[in-house]
Order: sequence, then structure tokens, then C-alpha cells
Amino acid sequence: MIGMFDSGLGGLSVWRALSARLPQQPVIYVADREYCPYGERSDQELIARAERITDYLLQQGATLLLIACNTATSAAARHLRARHPELPIVGMEPAIKPAALSTQSGKVGVLATQGTLRGDKFRQLSAQLHQHAAIYSQAGTGFVELVESGDLDGPAAHAAVSAALAPLLAQGVDHIVLGCTHYPFLAPVIRAHLPPHIDIIDPTDAVVRQTLRLLAEHGLQHDGDSAAVYRFVSTGEVQSMQHFLQRILQRNDTVEALHLP
Ligand code: DGL
Repeated sequence: MIGMFDSGLGGLSVWRALSARLPQQPVIYVADREYCPYGERSDQELIARAERITDYLLQQGATLLLIACNTATSAAARHLRARHPELPIVGMEPAIKPAALSTQSGKVGVLATQGTLRGDKFRQLSAQLHQHAAIYSQAGTGFVELVESGDLDGPAAHAAVSAALAPLLAQGVDHIVLGCTHYPFLAPVIRAHLPPHIDIIDPTDAVVRQTLRLLAEHGLQHDGDSAAVYRFVSTGEVQSMQHFLQRILQRNDTVEALHLP
């Protein structure tokens, strides 16, 4: 079983792509909504949450961990890998490299949380790609809250997206990298605010391919033709997550409440 977690509903964008590719693979998904948003928390706090949730997922029978959150990956993936050397772990990373290698203007924009943007991983990656492209970053202020509240295309979503894109467009970027798993849910609005020549780069499919590779390498693919069992768990509010699953992902699952102090 794959264990996934995110600060909230964002990682469901990864679950959606994963379940489309692997319809038999059981998954347990934890939305740490009690601690959402992760973007403004310290690395220490994020490491403690990641440990707590990983322990829970392992107790529930997870055999592969998919950190469906860029911020938690940046803060805690190295720590989790050291703590669980036997556990296959997949993390998220802003797809700056493919953008930097295909930009025509030599300028790439990255949208992510404050936590991801201040992390070592992001800074190292940007520095490595320095000779290919100038990297301009911008926090998606308000994006996570919009997705958590299910407002994916209202006036507030358009206003937040337009405000975040303005400085990147002013720099002349020709790629926008989505560096947070909440942001793909806002991709149609982001698209609507971009001139057609600007590409949106979303790492979700690459992460799903990496998950498939690791499952195969560790002999963890689920055989059989019955539909997968999915469990959706929230450490915080449950109703709106259930509503989101119904409305956006056409799932009627009952969201389980989890108290994880
Ligand atoms: N979805 C997360 C990410 O990919 C976390 C967003 C947040 O809680 O701030 O970064």
C-alpha cells in the first residue's frame, strides 16, 4: 500500500494522477489539515509532523511513502530517508530543470510556498541551473487557502493568481513551474492569466513515473483486477474534504478523522 501525505488537499492532485495510472494500487492519503498551511512553518515543525505521519502510515501498512508536498519534501525528505533506510520514499521537487533546459527567453518563473523557496534544495537547484536560465520565484500567496476552501475558479482565485503572476510576467519568463501540489488545482485559472506562448510545467507526472519505478524495483506493485482500496484521512476538518472529493474528484469516500497531536 502506498502511504501519501500533504498539509491538506493539494496532494490529491498527485493521488489523482497516480490512481489514473495504477487503478489497482491501494493508497492511504493523510491530509494534515490541522497543521495546514505548511508553507510558513519551520523546518523543525515540519520534520516532527512528517515523522508523526510517517509512523502512522507505516502502522497502517504503507510499504512506500509518497510525500505529496513540496514543502515537506524540502524540509523533511532527507531526514525521513535517514530514519527509514529500508522504506522507498518519493518526494516532490519543483521541475525547474526541464523548464531551464527548454526556455527560449532564458527566464523561468517558479511558483511555490515560502517554505520551499527558502529551502536549501530549491536554492541549490537554482544555482546549478544558473548557466541555462535565470530563475525568478514567487510565493503563491493565498493559493493553498483557496484550494482548501474549494474555491478553484472564483473571483478570489483569479485575483490571487493574477497578483502572483504579475511580477513573473514583468520579468519576461516563458515557463511557469508549479512548485506546490495545491497549485495544479488552480492550473486552469493560471492558464487563463498567461499569454499562450508561456508553458506551465507540472512535475506530477514525473513523480508518478518515479513512484511506478520504485514500486517495480521493490516488487510492491499490487496485482489483481479488483478496484483499489483508497483511504482518505484528515487530521483536521473532514466535511469540506469529503465535499472536495465529491465535487472535484468524483469520489464518495467517507473521510476518516485522525487525531494526531
Ligand atoms: N501542498 C504543499 C506543497 O506542495 C504545501 C502547501 C502548504 O501547506 O503551504 O508545498
